[in-house]
Amino acid sequence: MALTDIIANMLKRKTPDDAVESASKGGLEKTLGVWDLIILGVGAIIGSGIFAVVGIAAAGSADGTSPGAGPALVLSMIIAAIACVFSALCFSEFAAMIPVSGGAYSYTYATLGECAAWLVGWILMLEYVIAFIAVSCAWANYVVQFLKGFGHILPAFITNPPVWLVNDFRSAVHTLSSQGIDYHSVIPSICGIPFCINLPAALIILFITLTLIKGTKDSTKFATFMVVLKMGIIGLFIVSGLFFVQPDNWTPFAPNGFSGVFMGAFIIFFAYIGFDALATTAEECKNPQKDLPRGIIGSLVVTTIVYTLVALVLTGMYRTQGHVDQAFLGAPLAFTMENVLHGWVSKAIPGFMSVGIIAGLTSVLLVMQMAATRILYVMSRDNFLPKVFQKLHPKFNTPHILTWAVCIVSIFGTLTLNLDAAAALCNFGTFTSFIIVCAAIIILRKIDPDRPRPFKVPFCPWFPLAGILCCGGLMAFMMFSSTGESAKLSTELFFAWIVMGILIYATYGYWNNRKAEKITEIKEIAENE
Ligand code: ALA
Repeated sequence: MALTDIIANMLKRKTPDDAVESASKGGLEKTLGVWDLIILGVGAIIGSGIFAVVGIAAAGSADGTSPGAGPALVLSMIIAAIACVFSALCFSEFAAMIPVSGGAYSYTYATLGECAAWLVGWILMLEYVIAFIAVSCAWANYVVQFLKGFGHILPAFITNPPVWLVNDFRSAVHTLSSQGIDYHSVIPSICGIPFCINLPAALIILFITLTLIKGTKDSTKFATFMVVLKMGIIGLFIVSGLFFVQPDNWTPFAPNGFSGVFMGAFIIFFAYIGFDALATTAEECKNPQKDLPRGIIGSLVVTTIVYTLVALVLTGMYRTQGHVDQAFLGAPLAFTMENVLHGWVSKAIPGFMSVGIIAGLTSVLLVMQMAATRILYVMSRDNFLPKVFQKLHPKFNTPHILTWAVCIVSIFGTLTLNLDAAAALCNFGTFTSFIIVCAAIIILRKIDPDRPRPFKVPFCPWFPLAGILCCGGLMAFMMFSSTGESAKLSTELFFAWIVMGILIYATYGYWNNRKAEKITEIKEIAENE
């Protein structure tokens, strides 16, 4: 095959009309209005970012190599929100113009062609699967913290579990060495290899997998309940926390200068991830052209307001400079409350908050694993992955093989990644997909200027370019300025993931697509004869 043919194949587009036509055959029920979308958006966005990662963004990483923003966390929140707004506008233009499931993957297929679409799909896995791993680690932190409060009722191995049963290896070693303990004396080994497992994280992954395989009926009702609970907990934190704010804690405002603020923005970007998942519901919207842009931008605005209030109260209640308690990094909101309250209230309110937070994180987990399997399913339908992944469960009609595959990869992930490494890795994937979507908007305006666009990004190409600059800038800042072990690990894993994706496409996806084209050709000839 000539090189020009190969390149032509790699650039083959699935036009927006093709995509919309195949989606129209899908027959999904159109039930979602603008409020449902805002609720789903807030349900998918608000999770471990604000309940756990915010501690690291404010106070810095546990190994001390990545600086925290301190009280300037509020600025980090606003910078991350600005980076998201430009991309959210681009997502809105695409979602209104090409209302099909598959989100950024489908938009890229319609604009940049087959090879770029595969890479975006592959990178989206980094976003959704790694977010799934990160949120399950945060879930585990909150459960461990919550169970500690039952020391007088439950057995010690539950309320104070061995460090190797609730951590990945690196976090376990770090915790032990900070207590001056040699890990060889505590962590068991199998055939000479130290063995650690984050058991609560593995159990919740298993639970979510089984729930999704059984099917998630009434998922919007479930999401509404979770969102009300989550917002109630955050509201409780903001209102009651206001009484304990000590303005002294806000000085110095930015103890680590710009570097702390930008690092904080990179880290807290994780808390905004999820609005893009809304685009994958396009086929289920009553009026996607109008409602999706409102849903995407509306949920981002609600989230930004809530996050900035939390940042102000949190950093006003607890001093985030100098030495911070390890528990603050794992479960900052519950810890901060416990720190300022006295008597039985100091246990009851954080305990109540932890229950709400654990429930809220569970809903994010559901959305993340569902989004990952939905995109993988579409990719398998497009011949990028083996047909076996399209198999549905004979009784529940869900893509069970894919769901199990994501489950196994995620449990393996919790053995090697902790919360901050997973969140950073997830950010790299999301930034890359946002950059590609912003670039795709500019390209499609050039190559297909007359296509009807029910929603248009204002000031194009300047706004999409600003999105590319913000996302690329934060990503480059993290890659080149952080010396932390977690940051280095996530940068290396990110590049390894891209190389792996290119190799899989070159050895499998590309050829499988050609085979499928041949089969369709033969079928068409046979039908015509
Ligand atoms: N934004 C989601 C969270 O914070 C990923 O959990």
